[in-house]
Amino acid sequence: MMSNARPGPTTMVIFGATGDLTRRKLLPALYRLQSLKMLPGCFNVIGFATRALDDKGYRALAGEAVEEFSAYRPADPKTLKKLIDRIYFVSSHFEDKAGYDNVKKKLSQIDRRCKRCCEKVFYLATPPSFFPKIIKMLDSSGLSKVKGTEPLPKIIIEKPFGSDLTTARELNDLIYKYFAEEQVYRIDHYLGKETVQNILFFRFANGIYEPIWNRRYVEHVQITVAETIGIGGRGKYFEEAGILRDMVQNHILQLLALVAMEPPVNMDPEFIRAKKIELFRSLRPIHPQDALKYTVRGQYSSGDMAGEPVPGYREEGDVSSKSVSETYVALKVMIDNWRWSGVPFYIRTGKRLKKRLTEIAISFKEVPICLFTECLSPSLDRNVLVLKIQPDEGITFKINVKRPGSADIMETVNMDFSYRESFEVELPEAYERLIYDVMIGDATLFPHREGIEETWAFVTRILGGWKQAHRPDFPNYHPGSWGPKEADDFMKTDGRMWREP
Ligand code: BG6
Repeated sequence: MMSNARPGPTTMVIFGATGDLTRRKLLPALYRLQSLKMLPGCFNVIGFATRALDDKGYRALAGEAVEEFSAYRPADPKTLKKLIDRIYFVSSHFEDKAGYDNVKKKLSQIDRRCKRCCEKVFYLATPPSFFPKIIKMLDSSGLSKVKGTEPLPKIIIEKPFGSDLTTARELNDLIYKYFAEEQVYRIDHYLGKETVQNILFFRFANGIYEPIWNRRYVEHVQITVAETIGIGGRGKYFEEAGILRDMVQNHILQLLALVAMEPPVNMDPEFIRAKKIELFRSLRPIHPQDALKYTVRGQYSSGDMAGEPVPGYREEGDVSSKSVSETYVALKVMIDNWRWSGVPFYIRTGKRLKKRLTEIAISFKEVPICLFTECLSPSLDRNVLVLKIQPDEGITFKINVKRPGSADIMETVNMDFSYRESFEVELPEAYERLIYDVMIGDATLFPHREGIEETWAFVTRILGGWKQAHRPDFPNYHPGSWGPKEADDFMKTDGRMWREP
């Protein structure tokens, strides 16, 4: 559920307005908010990109994007028109002052039409190399400043937020020259997912879990974020990034924080952020010399997915034939605090894996003494609580029961909660919630400067270790598998196995 707060008059300027993210996610999210009547009466969009388009041309592109990518198809023509009629376009290079002057002109026209000074939201949906330039241009063109009691502008920054600790700090420093923290919204779209938001509700709205949510009862935790897609047209980005930067520094460490953090004083954003930062600071650093001990890297080869041939990573566009960028990573993470001391958190994520699935599986300790012959059966699981983030969203608890009619044969069965069965509503897309929260000024679901820098510090040490180590023997896993064999060995060394979801 979204908050009942209503956003005030807003104009959103989207930099990178013709890019993939805007077309696939942002415009469909705005359409959905429009159809739910969640946009303010005076809401307008100014698209900013280098393509030579006018308002009419961009409106056509925006309409097509909604028709193609909205989860709510076919789009309702009336709702779509209502949104489209409020979209404008500025065709300009990101470093061209004339473009920003043009934005200024359009903003004043909109304010005049709305008969008030609308709040300005600058959405940086461009490749990250343009962020510094745009931020500086927002300042030099006067767009970051306000007069008198005008509302302060907000700035939304997409990921990747930097490429290591140094660059993330530099970007934060640059932003702080012109914007205060309460004006800044750094996007991690996983935090906008309904099931991710539910982690804190599940933990802190049910009295029975808190007493067992610790080292005394939890044996280990597995976080899996598996994708079946390859890197598609993002070869250039992936060659620089690799999956540790792409998925772990942000989405997965945020999931880990939500599962492992202490209860906040209340649900105010600053209290939640404080607990997450505390958790990030408790992560045991993986020093460069230990990187190979605590991590496994993988890269997919060519092969078949669902009967179709697919190229290996090294054969994808813009990828070197000798690339050492990883498309899979597994990590063992330890949290050095009173709650989690000694409980390993295993993380794995990869492209071209067997299934698309994100889940957090909390494995509880076994019974102290087994009273049944079947306890030792390999087909029996220990108690596992699985938070199913996507798809098939829900929660499953695995319990062992006596098979009816048998003497003491046991079976592991599931206690299931499914969003689809319990609620007759479609789960909202992450971007709907995030854009709405920016408009009402709720920063709960947005990472804070310190959180970002802590997670980069953790990841940067590993990257340093990989750089010093010998070249990995890539490719080392087949499409449609669960990743490299080394990742299984890595678990075996600890006497455990990856879950087969
Ligand atoms: C993005 C990553 O942040 O998240 C992509 O850059 C990844 O590589 C995507 O595919 C996954 O998001 P979702 O919502 O489909 O799980």
